[in-house]
Amino acid sequence: MNNASATPLLRVEKLNKSYAKGIGGRHRTQILRDVSFELRRGQTLGLVGESGSGKSTTAACVMGLTAADSGLIEFDGVDLTTLSKAGMRKMRRRIQMVFQDPNGSLDPRFTVADLVEEPLIVHGVTDSAERSRRVSEVLDRVGISVKQAQRYPFAFSGGQRQRIAIARALVLNPDLVVLDEPVSALDVSIQAQVLNLLSDLQDELGLTYLFIVHDLAVARLMSHHIAVMNAGEIVEAGTSADVFDNTTHPYTRALLDAVPGARRRAAQQRTAAQQRAAAQQRTTAALATAGTADAMEGM
Ligand SMILES: Nc1ncnc2c1ncn2[C@@H]1O[C@H](COP(=O)(O)OP(=O)(O)O)[C@@H](O)[C@H]1O
Ligand SMILES: [Mg+2]
Repeated sequence: MNNASATPLLRVEKLNKSYAKGIGGRHRTQILRDVSFELRRGQTLGLVGESGSGKSTTAACVMGLTAADSGLIEFDGVDLTTLSKAGMRKMRRRIQMVFQDPNGSLDPRFTVADLVEEPLIVHGVTDSAERSRRVSEVLDRVGISVKQAQRYPFAFSGGQRQRIAIARALVLNPDLVVLDEPVSALDVSIQAQVLNLLSDLQDELGLTYLFIVHDLAVARLMSHHIAVMNAGEIVEAGTSADVFDNTTHPYTRALLDAVPGARRRAAQQRTAAQQRAAAQQRTTAALATAGTADAMEGM
């Protein structure tokens, strides 16, 4: 590991956000309370919690879509909350978002090729040959052919549309991708394909994911670290293994217990991991013995 991966790409510290309550807005509802987390380059932080716990609001603050009341959002060493509109626009190239519903981001009046090209135009890539090259490359990565891309979004299935939304997010070569429930609207069989694609893209491109998800099985599968949110607060954080296998936190336990089979699956995975570790230990011991024998033979 080098230094770059040791310093977090995204650091959120004591983020607070409230909304005015009712007309006149003299009273405010506190939505986020002192939300803090770190996300290392090339890794995935799963932000989990039940509906209404403040996950999307956290994402909106990170994306600069809404202003926080207070707190720090440091991206690659720069506090985004202090940036001007122009400064934020420049930075936004490096931070992209994928939403639960791809239809919202795919204007039905444009072909897929045009939709994927649009961010390049918006961000001032003026060379059209360069734009075409980058559109083809990113479509290829998500498994949509250039020929298919001449069609309109309605001609695609839900899973394909989410692939197109992912291509749109990746065409600018971002560092951080905020994924807000990216597979929650898809059939289970399609979910697995899109999750595999996201994993592959992370490995190939070194992407960092803030992965918002209420499905704990998906969170476990995708995340290096987990932060658990409840009523606007991060109540527990740690590695996936810490949170899913060893949690003592009552809210996390309640979340896990609410998922049929989740604890059983976690226990099975734990046993499988223990068996793998034991097998590895035996192999290492056997190799060590063989190594000693070889060394003695050579004497
Ligand atoms: N623009 C808004 N105005 C007022 N309240 C909002 C707004 N956006 C979200 N909220 C409230 O903030 C809380 C958290 O919402 P959200 O961040 O969408 O949760 P999650 O993504 O975890 O389901 C909810 O109670 C929601 O009603
Ligand atoms: Mg949400």
